[in-house]
Amino acid sequence: MQTHFRDLTCGDARREHVGRRLSLAGWVHRRRDLGQLIFLDLRDRYGITQVVVDAQEAPHAHAAAATVRNEFVVRVEGMLAARLPGTENPKLATGEVELRAAEVTILSTARTPAFPINEPDQEADEAVRLRFRYLDLRREPMLRRILARSRLVEAIRAVHHDHGFVEIETPMLIKSTPEGARDFIVPSRLQPGSVYALPQSPQQLKQLLMVSGLDRYFQIARCFRDEDLRGDSQPEFTQLDLEMSFVAEEDVMAFVEAMVIEVSRAVVPERPIQHAPFPRFTHREALDRFGSDKPDLRYGMELHDLGEQARGSGFRVFEETLAGGGRVVGLAAPGMATASRSTVDELTELAKRFGAKGLVSIAIEGSGAVRSPIAKIVGDDRAEAMAVAAGASPGDLVLIVADRDVLAQEVLGRLRVELGARLGLADQEVLAYCWVHRFPMYQWDVENGRWDATHNPFSAPIPEHVELLTTLSGDPSRPSPEDPAGRALAQQYDLALNGWELGGGSVRIHQRDLLERSFSMMGHTLEGMRQKFGALLDAFEYGAPPHGGIALGIDRWAMILTYQTNIREVMAFPKTQSGSDLMLESPSPAEPGQWAELGLRFVGAPKG
Ligand code: AMO
Repeated sequence: MQTHFRDLTCGDARREHVGRRLSLAGWVHRRRDLGQLIFLDLRDRYGITQVVVDAQEAPHAHAAAATVRNEFVVRVEGMLAARLPGTENPKLATGEVELRAAEVTILSTARTPAFPINEPDQEADEAVRLRFRYLDLRREPMLRRILARSRLVEAIRAVHHDHGFVEIETPMLIKSTPEGARDFIVPSRLQPGSVYALPQSPQQLKQLLMVSGLDRYFQIARCFRDEDLRGDSQPEFTQLDLEMSFVAEEDVMAFVEAMVIEVSRAVVPERPIQHAPFPRFTHREALDRFGSDKPDLRYGMELHDLGEQARGSGFRVFEETLAGGGRVVGLAAPGMATASRSTVDELTELAKRFGAKGLVSIAIEGSGAVRSPIAKIVGDDRAEAMAVAAGASPGDLVLIVADRDVLAQEVLGRLRVELGARLGLADQEVLAYCWVHRFPMYQWDVENGRWDATHNPFSAPIPEHVELLTTLSGDPSRPSPEDPAGRALAQQYDLALNGWELGGGSVRIHQRDLLERSFSMMGHTLEGMRQKFGALLDAFEYGAPPHGGIALGIDRWAMILTYQTNIREVMAFPKTQSGSDLMLESPSPAEPGQWAELGLRFVGAPKG
């Protein structure tokens, strides 16, 4: 990569270049001063080359090199030489050669960084890393992840272009697109009192592109959601967003699955994909077997329904739960029979924090003997039968939650994840993708007396449930928890990877009347629909193809592919948990006059 300043990058020099006079430019990674000889490790993003500056060979260069410090930017001109036998560095791609300096030019000096650039293993405080992100990005681990992310996007683009997808940029200044978060809004100067919303996703626009006949669209799309942040989310993030026409659920899943496999193999060829084709679970099955709609399949430890064994056991909690329509569910933690009392107490506290009323344990000792606080009540035989039904072998500890349907599974699902991590059950190399589909269309929102879309409000019901939506129970504008539509399942599919939700999508409703019916279930009035979704509803009157799509979180994907658990580690310039950019110091107070220009006045922070 020859430029005005250099002939090779710092990663290029090899034996074949020995004897050539050439220039390199980069950052001083490390400097060793042996008096007569000064060694500089010169670094750029491609690698490191050793420079030797000899006071006798090049007195001027030596004088200059004597003044440089770490992170100075220098240009070195000299002769490439083979290193003396025994002094080669097999850890460096350039380790067989060194540049013997004739001239050293300082292009830029540098202050001492807040954390060392050349010791990537040394922990640095994240706030400091974010404040000096441009320095953090010089460090090898961050650089490696940013390069992997770039390869990910490159591979995504290549596969989509190969399959006839059109890449289209949709605007950032749009109107509210509900994805369940708050909008970021941008006041309009030209139309005082009006605002744009930044897209939570390009959902409506990509559907409109299908009405336009684009057939297959994709975008590396920036999305904005004003929500409370977790380690795997950011207010501003990137989706691989795609939409396809004339498709059923099966078509989208088949394309996405093939694409995901191809992209994974291109980016991390060394990481095995656990199952291909990807396992598929209905939402119900995922809850019952893993207590999660994003199951981690890298280990077993599945949930088991213990209703049969718990019925008539005489243990009041089990009996009352079952009588009330609840569930008794258990899992077997391998090798944990010897867990101490305090460990079990701690797990019980955890279960309570997850929402359960309590946790019952049954240990099957190595000898096969049963130990459980409920053994005296239910008897050893029944306790053992429950343990066996939960999948336990000698040495295992069975954990049981009795509670409302779904809550019981979810609590145990979270314990499963916790135990999976503590016991180190997951093979860290494996990529375990799986599909979860057939989500309920709606969930009843008790507070607001209406149905909520469990996922995407544009999702279509499965074909055999369309009728449930059109079957009215009473006044169509007054949603009721008795509405048959509440039982409808959606053509909605989520893609999970190693226990994370990687993406979600659906086949959409493409008929205006059905979409209006679905929106009215969610409490929208006709006027409200016109305001929020008018363009899409109107467009459906001009010939809309059946269509469906999905969006995958690119940040999350990059995070998992690079073995991270925090999304900030794969973003060049992320925001903190409180939504701040510590480097640019944003958000920042408005400049004098900015409010007035927009016809606004700041009246103070909202109460509460
Ligand atoms: P959804 O809201 O499920 O679907 O988002 C799709 C994927 O985007 C990622 N994601 C996020 N990543 C980082 N930070 C966030 N705050 C964040 N929110 C979401 C996740 C998620 O699975 N329009 C629909 C897609 C469709 O139906 O086609 C949508 O946005 O990985």
